[in-house]
Amino acid sequence: MCGIVGYIGERQAQEVLLEGLSKLEYRGYDSAGVGIRGEAGIAVRKKAGKLANLEAELQARPLKGTLGIGHTRWATHGLPNDVNSHPHTNEDGSLVLVHNGIIENYLELKEGLLARGHTFRSDTDTEVMAHLIEEAYGGDLYEAVRSALQQVRGAYALVVTHRDHREIVAARTVSPMVLGVGEGELFLASDVPALLPYTRQMVFLHDGDMVHLSDSGYRVTDLAGQPISRDEERVEWDAEAAEKGGFDTYMLKEIYEQPQALTNTLLGRLGEDGQVSLDIGLDPRSFERISIVACGTAYYAGLVGEYLIEQLARIPVDVDVASEYRYRSPIVNKSTLAVAVSQSGETIDTLEALREAAAGGAQTLGIINAKGSSMTRELGDTLYIHAGPEIGVASTKAYTAQVSAMLLLALWLGQARGTLSRERAAELVAEARRLPALVQEALAPERVERIRAIAQKYAQASDYLFLGRGVNAPTALEGALKLKEISYIHAEGYAAGEMKHGPIALIDADLPVVVVATHSDLLEKTISNLQEVRARAGRVIAILSDGDTENAQHADDVIYVPRTAEELSPIVNVVALQLLSYFTADHLGKDVDKPRNLAKSVTVE
Ligand code: F6R
Repeated sequence: MCGIVGYIGERQAQEVLLEGLSKLEYRGYDSAGVGIRGEAGIAVRKKAGKLANLEAELQARPLKGTLGIGHTRWATHGLPNDVNSHPHTNEDGSLVLVHNGIIENYLELKEGLLARGHTFRSDTDTEVMAHLIEEAYGGDLYEAVRSALQQVRGAYALVVTHRDHREIVAARTVSPMVLGVGEGELFLASDVPALLPYTRQMVFLHDGDMVHLSDSGYRVTDLAGQPISRDEERVEWDAEAAEKGGFDTYMLKEIYEQPQALTNTLLGRLGEDGQVSLDIGLDPRSFERISIVACGTAYYAGLVGEYLIEQLARIPVDVDVASEYRYRSPIVNKSTLAVAVSQSGETIDTLEALREAAAGGAQTLGIINAKGSSMTRELGDTLYIHAGPEIGVASTKAYTAQVSAMLLLALWLGQARGTLSRERAAELVAEARRLPALVQEALAPERVERIRAIAQKYAQASDYLFLGRGVNAPTALEGALKLKEISYIHAEGYAAGEMKHGPIALIDADLPVVVVATHSDLLEKTISNLQEVRARAGRVIAILSDGDTENAQHADDVIYVPRTAEELSPIVNVVALQLLSYFTADHLGKDVDKPRNLAKSVTVE
């Protein structure tokens, strides 16, 4: 995910920006750049690749000036090359800006700007902002940014400066931004670590905030221009805690990053007109079956994908554990689309399965997080999930982003192949656009506290069972995997209807059984399974949709989750299970970020 730094003060901006950007490297990026206001206007230097490339460039051609903005880019629209790197400028270079996020309606805005005579240099969504602000500019930079933002839909942390003013104007919606307050100097950054070398006095900007920085101080307003008062806070974190964003562990931070990760996966791909557009070259009609290969958590995302694609696009789908795929002599040909799902893009089993499918003539598509990873170099097409780096070994935000990418794929195929009615597609797309907000709601403090209490109540159990049906059968599998890998409690996940064919023998008064029983056409059947557990003295923790008080009576404990369409519910429901595992492991004193015996990226067969 992109990183942003801004500075106004008495120090040389070049040093401050490079130091700040280096502290944001952990976020992942593929190019970097700075814009510094000197005597002759604003000079921009930007380079694809590592920050070292930009440093070398600045060593060879240093920039003098005490006001500047900097950026590390994780490409979304347009290749990671020098031109697409930030900062971006208007045509005469008087206006310079950096941006983190996605301008959802950029194509429409770009068409208008082209028609009005603007010319573009890059393929990015960001560049439209430079042209829009230029059009709105009448001598007041803050007003021009404010007015341009009225036309923009999407997610942004935006930092803008202008040759004619010793000022920086910034705004944020969805993408994070924090203001650092020093003695006679001000800083902006996407994250706290970039500011710690300079100040601990910070203002955490909220969604919809704008901030104006000058030598005489700063003021915060809303997008309507009304002043807002935001408290300055003293941040006492050390560098490591800062990288964890103040959370105790990366895993917890990543659980809370899910609304942002989902925004990155979905935004720009779900049109307001109900149309899904994917940044891939694949012909959606060029295959007759789909073969999904993946491991672990990514495999469960594939299982949700199977359900969604078969339901919405009516294409037969197989899902294989990648380590088994090659050894079952799979039948593959050119009418097969092989889909590899992988956070790291490096898992050797998945890579080998992909090679096997490609050797058989299949077209290949990856649902991948890590840019430039080994798989992306071999795949025909890659649908990036843009979840940002995942450091906790147990996958959380990559999973929900993978499932949402599966949803995008299913909707896109259903629309292109005519299996999905316009009305149903519009309903699902509208609901999918709400997913980040729904997951945010699933993370509301009172819900999290309830899950923590339930986790502690059952933390001494030696086994756990997880049940779910239909599209939430994989949610049960993922819940069990999460619990066992970080708490070391033995856990099994089953399709709820399968319980009576074996696992029912395990049920006794010591066995907590988590039943995913959210709103669904199959809910009654799931509730029957839940009652079968109760009848055998099992202890039921039910995951129910908000408002379902009727079924609460059948459970010992209830975790309520926000209500959504069944197809989308795995994304919302799994958040509760991630938290249940997290708090169980935390209560037991386990090393949540680095569970024993596990590696983040498994590159041996
Ligand atoms: C579990 C987990 C693993 C990975 C699996 C695949 O929390 O993280 O099961 O999902 O090792 O890894 P990737 O997605 O990198 O291929």
